[in-house]
Amino acid sequence: MSPFEGKTYWLIGASEGLGREIAKGLALAGAHVIVSARSKSRLLELANDLGSATALPMDVTCPKSVMYTAQAVGRVDGVIYNAGVYEPMHTQDWDVKAAISMLDVNFAGALRVLHHIMPQLIADDKGDVTLVGSLAGYRGLPAAIGYGASKAALISLAETMRYDLRNSGVTVRIVNPGFIKTRLTDKNSFVMPQLMKPEKAASHVLKAMEHRRFRTDFPRPFSWLIKAMQLLPDWVVYRGK
Ligand SMILES: NC(=O)c1ccc[n+]([C@@H]2O[C@H](COP(=O)([O-])OP(=O)(O)OC[C@H]3O[C@@H](n4cnc5c(N)ncnc54)[C@H](OP(=O)(O)O)[C@@H]3O)[C@@H](O)[C@H]2O)c1
Repeated sequence: MSPFEGKTYWLIGASEGLGREIAKGLALAGAHVIVSARSKSRLLELANDLGSATALPMDVTCPKSVMYTAQAVGRVDGVIYNAGVYEPMHTQDWDVKAAISMLDVNFAGALRVLHHIMPQLIADDKGDVTLVGSLAGYRGLPAAIGYGASKAALISLAETMRYDLRNSGVTVRIVNPGFIKTRLTDKNSFVMPQLMKPEKAASHVLKAMEHRRFRTDFPRPFSWLIKAMQLLPDWVVYRGK
């Protein structure tokens, strides 16, 4: 039997790309999925296709929207925070509005959602929390002003929650994908190694959700390369004129 059978998940960032595919996989595995994002029409279309899904539009940057939606969601077995925005940005192209928006959606939005979800999971001493980070969160990469910091913050958040909840029945995990072909990466003009289809990336996330393992970085070997960069001395990483 599928570990998702009969369970209810709240999936935030479900209208497009990776989230849409995760929703399909969960529904196929017998879960009831509550799908949230801003686009009501895309969510209704998805819920209609899936059958066992409920569409609850929400903007994670709006505390009231998150509060009312969380009230409508009620008790769940798990939450997946996948909402994200991305604008490639070099230091030379500083755009404070876009940078703060990335922090707001990618990180602060997770705080707003978890504020409503964690008390219930902790009281019940059970539940499942999946945060979708990025390999870009492991170190400062080129053209990642705002985005890299937002994902580093999300990884740090997951690590703290993992410590705090280590003796509880609540599972916390972080999944860090590499490049996925979605509207976000369509903005990139550089070569993206091991670019994945959203369906493939979703299968990695769903597989990770079958286990209690805390951290899942994919795809290999690209994820190994990014993490290995942390071990290199700065003079190697930043060599130039
Ligand atoms: N694509 C990649 O290469 C890649 C790599 C690593 C990590 N990721 C991460 O994977 C996640 C999904 O990205 P994706 O590539 O699938 O992008 P996507 O297709 O643009 O999907 C992003 C999702 O986030 C939702 N969202 C954005 N702003 C929101 C807001 N204010 N409130 C609620 N929902 C909001 C979007 O829905 P609405 O627009 O309808 O609100 C959409 O459902 C993101 O967290 C991203 O950072 C992506």
